[in-house]
Amino acid sequence: MHQDLQTVDIGKLIIRLSAAGGLDLDLDGMLAHLHEVLGKLPAFPVRGTSVIRLYNSENRLVTVAQHGLPPVWQQPAAADRFAPLTAVEGISLAQATDGEQFLVLPLAIGNARLGQAAIGVAGDWQPGTGEIALLTDLGTALSGSVSYLMMKETLALREMELEDARSQVIKRLGIASEFRDNETGMHIMRMTNIALAIAKELAMPQKQRDILSVAAPMHDVGKIGISDAIMLKPGRLSEEEFAVMKTHTEIGERLLAGCDSLVEAARDIALCHHENWDGSGYPRGLKGERISIFARICAVADVFDALTSRRPYKEAWPVAEAVGWIRGEAGRKFDPAVVQAFEDALPEILRILELYREEIINPRQRVKLPEPFYSNTRWVIWDASLSVGIDVIDEHHRYLFDLTNDLINVMVNRRGTGALLRLLSALSDYAEVHFRAEERMMEHFGYAGLDRQKEQHQTFQERLRRFAVDLHDYPVVTQVELVGYLRGWLVGHIKHEDTLLRALVTG
Ligand SMILES: [Fe+2]
Ligand SMILES: [Fe+2]
Ligand SMILES: [Fe+2]
Repeated sequence: MHQDLQTVDIGKLIIRLSAAGGLDLDLDGMLAHLHEVLGKLPAFPVRGTSVIRLYNSENRLVTVAQHGLPPVWQQPAAADRFAPLTAVEGISLAQATDGEQFLVLPLAIGNARLGQAAIGVAGDWQPGTGEIALLTDLGTALSGSVSYLMMKETLALREMELEDARSQVIKRLGIASEFRDNETGMHIMRMTNIALAIAKELAMPQKQRDILSVAAPMHDVGKIGISDAIMLKPGRLSEEEFAVMKTHTEIGERLLAGCDSLVEAARDIALCHHENWDGSGYPRGLKGERISIFARICAVADVFDALTSRRPYKEAWPVAEAVGWIRGEAGRKFDPAVVQAFEDALPEILRILELYREEIINPRQRVKLPEPFYSNTRWVIWDASLSVGIDVIDEHHRYLFDLTNDLINVMVNRRGTGALLRLLSALSDYAEVHFRAEERMMEHFGYAGLDRQKEQHQTFQERLRRFAVDLHDYPVVTQVELVGYLRGWLVGHIKHEDTLLRALVTG
């Protein structure tokens, strides 16, 4: 009777795990469930902790889920506690380094090894033949679920990448168009981020904002068709030259032929970013809401960044003056609602100007920016102990921490490997901007540790590229490793290397 009940319960679990999609749980959920079902059965004296470990791209077992402990992204598994479990074969009992006994179930599909589930059990327990048979079935079912989960992630990733390949081409085209008058591409980055901050303030849906982030960099793509004589002319343009320059809007429109929402948005922006709310703009003289909202947002972002930047023919305007000028153009040049959103987003926009500045960082410059508002859980926290004594650099580092927290939140909330990969690329892009700024500052002030810094920055970027590759074939395990690496590297590098930059201020 007792035996039967046990078989029924475990049988149910096996059947549920074997169904396509398993229990439709993530690994933590699966492990908790397993623990719960086995824990009810007297024949399985489940104790303490259980873990699922999967092989990474280097054939090393990494803990990806743990039960009876906080989740791995909160508390990474102790590295060598389970080392003795690595050597065992088949269903077996093995002791962790701390003496706790584990029942080890290998996870595999055919000849492909996936990893193992290790369930804590009482030290004196030995499974009988009946238990071994059940455990074999359980291992098979669990393997199926884990492999299904991995496949689902990989598939979603491929789908997203097909989509992204196109956005990448479009983005690069935008950057190429900027190369002639701005080598660093910083204007495009600032302008795009400012446009996104305004769109967020206008409560534009995330999907639309994703489109904007790819389409905004394209606003001046038509400049590809304007001759060097006009594009690179140092002084002011004559009336005829300006007439030619204006055609960059229509050239952009022609370049962006196509009919999906992304290309359409990019075309609207390229064609209409010099249109005015009151109809006095070019090339069509469109008025009010006949101008696409994307273009109305980009117009404000583009002008604000141009005003506050130094150009060969003009000095940078002070921020307050530029804001005043834009306010004065509400209802004339600009959509009043967009100007309002721009003003509401100013703290964020000022931060963007600091994060993507062109000039060499002055180590003694004081920057007091408001504490950003966090809607998400923060897993890595920047605090004063990480300050390098240079305000602008601190601000960059805080932003890198923000991006890392966003990335960890994507993982914790299981928004998928695709979303994770996107954030990884945003993080790597910004790290590039930051490293370049940091290195230029070091170079300019003759900092002795420059080569060591350069090397570490490079190692970091290479590691991120490898993570991006591994996320495809080992999505589950790579996520866990990535988060661990990011946390460790950022804090370690800032604490041990970047804080030495203090010498630039004190020395
Ligand atoms: Fe333009
Ligand atoms: Fe840094
Ligand atoms: Fe650094």
